[in-house]
Order: sequence, then structure tokens, then C-alpha cells
Amino acid sequence: MLYVDSTQPEAVQEVFSWGVVRGVTTNPLIFAREAKSAHLGERIAALLAVSQGPVSVELIRSDEAGMVAEAQQYHRWDPARICIKVPFSRVGLKVTRALKEQQVTTNVTCIMNFNQAYLASQTGSDYISIFSGRVRDTGYDVRPTIRQTRHQFDREGIATRIIIGSIRHLMDVNEALLAGAHIVTAPPDILRSMLHHPKTDEAIAQFHDAWQSRGA
Ligand code: E4P
Repeated sequence: MLYVDSTQPEAVQEVFSWGVVRGVTTNPLIFAREAKSAHLGERIAALLAVSQGPVSVELIRSDEAGMVAEAQQYHRWDPARICIKVPFSRVGLKVTRALKEQQVTTNVTCIMNFNQAYLASQTGSDYISIFSGRVRDTGYDVRPTIRQTRHQFDREGIATRIIIGSIRHLMDVNEALLAGAHIVTAPPDILRSMLHHPKTDEAIAQFHDAWQSRGA
């Protein structure tokens, strides 16, 4: 399954119009890059309006009570669709567990290895996000982590869905899906690059030309 990793309503609307994207993820860094002066609540409302499925909003606060209060505020924007991204940490695990008890949808994020993925799943989180590009930045192949996490989740019947983010190349999408990701969240440009293949363009052009010149 594919999600789009973006805070730009126009781009999100475009990729949703293809009918193949099922959710939206955001984080504070993407907001700072793409929507520096935007009001968070207004921008999330705009993203909700042009998409379907979960829209992830990440917590900024780092103290337990503040994180829970912040999550409750975001959750009220659209309880059925807002998914609270909780950065992985000891406090993050506690906060995720507390939010699950309040029926708030959660996604434990910034996960880099199997240990963290397994711990995060034990909170009952709906999603975890493993960061492909950032794992590769450290010189490691992310695929064993994805495979091991999926294997363990399937073996124990853990319902947590594995999202792979930090996608930098088209190949990262393919490798994550083939390694067992439930969901890959990719920037709009990467999703657009999945549309094109020169041989597809060539074949369609040949079929079109042949039909036009058939002389019937
Ligand atoms: C998505 O959920 C992540 O927050 C995002 O893909 C991280 O990407 P980055 O590692 O390029 O910042």
C-alpha cells in the first residue's frame, strides 16, 4: 500500500486523483521545508480535505503530559482520520500506550531497528514507521530489519502495520514492499517517478500510431 509523505495540498490532491494512494504522512521537518509560515491546524485541514484515509501529525512536545495533551488536540481535528505520530523513546512508548487506551490512532516513528520496532508494537500502536534512508545513511541495509519485523508480527499475530518512510529513491519503494512493508510512504516526486517507463510510452505511442494509420 502507498501513502504520500507531504504537507503540500496540491501535490497530495494530485497523487490521490490517481486512485492508488491510501494515506498521508507529515513530520515537523517536512512542514518546516514545505510550509514554513503555514498554520499547522489549517494545513492539516487542507490535507484532510484533499485526501482519504489516515493523516499523520507528529508530536513536538517531549514531556509525557504535554505530548498527551498535544495528541488530544490534534485528534479532535478529525478523530476518525488523524493518526498521532509519536517519536520513539521511553516516554514515547508510555504516551503511545496511554493514547491507545483513549482510542487515539498512533504511529510510533523514527524507528531504525528490529528492537525498537518490536518494543513499539507492544504498545498496541496501529503503525510503526521505519526510516529506510536514515538506516542506509549509517551504512546498513534496511531490508533485514523490515523482513524480521514483518516475520515477527505475522508470527505473533501483531496487528501493528509497518510503514517504511525516509524514501529517497524509487528502488527504496520496491525493496521495502518486497521485504514485507505493509505501507510505503513516499514523497510526491518518487510516486510520480513510478508512473513512467520508456518502453510503456513507446508501446502506447506505437499502438496509437498504428490505429490512426490503419487506413480503415
Ligand atoms: C515519514 O513518515 C517520515 O517522517 C519521513 O519519511 C522521514 O523522511 P527523512 O528521513 O527524509 O526526513
